[in-house]
Amino acid sequence: MSFSILGTGKAVPEYVMTNDELSGMVETNDEWIRTRTGIQERRICKGETLTDLTVRAAKEALQNAGVEPSQLDLIICSTMRGENVTPSQGAVIQKEIGATCAAFDVNAACSGFIYALDIADGYFVRKRVRYVLIVSMDNLSNIIDWKDRSTCVLFGDGGGAVVLGEGDDLLSIDITTEGNDQVLRIPHGSNSSPFYEHEEERAVLHMAGNEVYKFAVNAMATGIKKVIAQAGLTEDDVDHVIPHQANIRIINASAKNLGIPREKFFCNVNHYGNTSSGSVPLALDEANHAGLLKKGDIIAMCAFGAGLTTGSCVIRWSGNAKDPV
Ligand code: ACO
Repeated sequence: MSFSILGTGKAVPEYVMTNDELSGMVETNDEWIRTRTGIQERRICKGETLTDLTVRAAKEALQNAGVEPSQLDLIICSTMRGENVTPSQGAVIQKEIGATCAAFDVNAACSGFIYALDIADGYFVRKRVRYVLIVSMDNLSNIIDWKDRSTCVLFGDGGGAVVLGEGDDLLSIDITTEGNDQVLRIPHGSNSSPFYEHEEERAVLHMAGNEVYKFAVNAMATGIKKVIAQAGLTEDDVDHVIPHQANIRIINASAKNLGIPREKFFCNVNHYGNTSSGSVPLALDEANHAGLLKKGDIIAMCAFGAGLTTGSCVIRWSGNAKDPV
């Protein structure tokens, strides 16, 4: 016994920032961003807080699943930086939606959604839960250097949520970590201790883009291959791939390496950029609401990010999410 996905939801800020707007802020242009990344625009928080977005995505997923907040047995929020150091963003969501179950956060950067699914799987296997809410959301506009053209053009705010119920639709899952704080890192910005002897670093994202690119292309192909084999399937059995939306070139290269037709890869990186752990559930929700996912479809999901982490899984689409019982 594991889980089925009963419902999906998403939330993105209202404000759309185009490549042209960015080219007025740093030395870049629409053509460079489109051809190197596939990104045309991204959403950026102005009026909304991370809490607004996490709560909106949670409510949408619950409604889509036909599950009441009072029925939830666990809430996991995947985020790199919740609204507060403490309480957890999961606890904030619990209060805002009127649930009473336990709640906590997980931080595995862009792979966080798959890590949360893996954790949830353990609770289902141990029969500790009947309904679990996962919300994956990041607010990267808070922690990127808006003067660094090599990173600020890549990211956006937003994410998604799923409600899980008892079922047998998780066919395989795998998470990995390769400890490395050299190629991708966001330090804490402040330290209030008068005794601390180290220099403070700016709390902005530092990334060696080329190194992450190479890691990502390899990780996507290796991760997806591994979970397809673990599920006892072949690449031909996969109906959809929902990849981390970091760069269209990484997605294209992965499709080629895997020999899975490119049309099977769902992409919305053009509209949202890289939303970190929000990316995979945001794409899953859009694929669901576009009516692309049919009952019984085999879906491979894969993400990679700081850590360096990866997460991959294969699920069978329960078909409940569009028309909740
Ligand atoms: N506009 C114009 N020129 C630019 C820009 C920009 N926004 N950014 C960099 N350039 C320039 C560089 O300075 C360089 O110029 P030079 O040749 O004169 O030195 C040139 O463009 C090429 O730069 P590269 O870094 O080689 O460009 P590349 O094709 O590798 O693309 C990119 C860079 C998009 C960052 C790519 O490496 C990438 O996608 N990496 C993966 C990033 C990622 O997926 N991160 C996910 C994890 S995020 C997380 O976990 C939070």
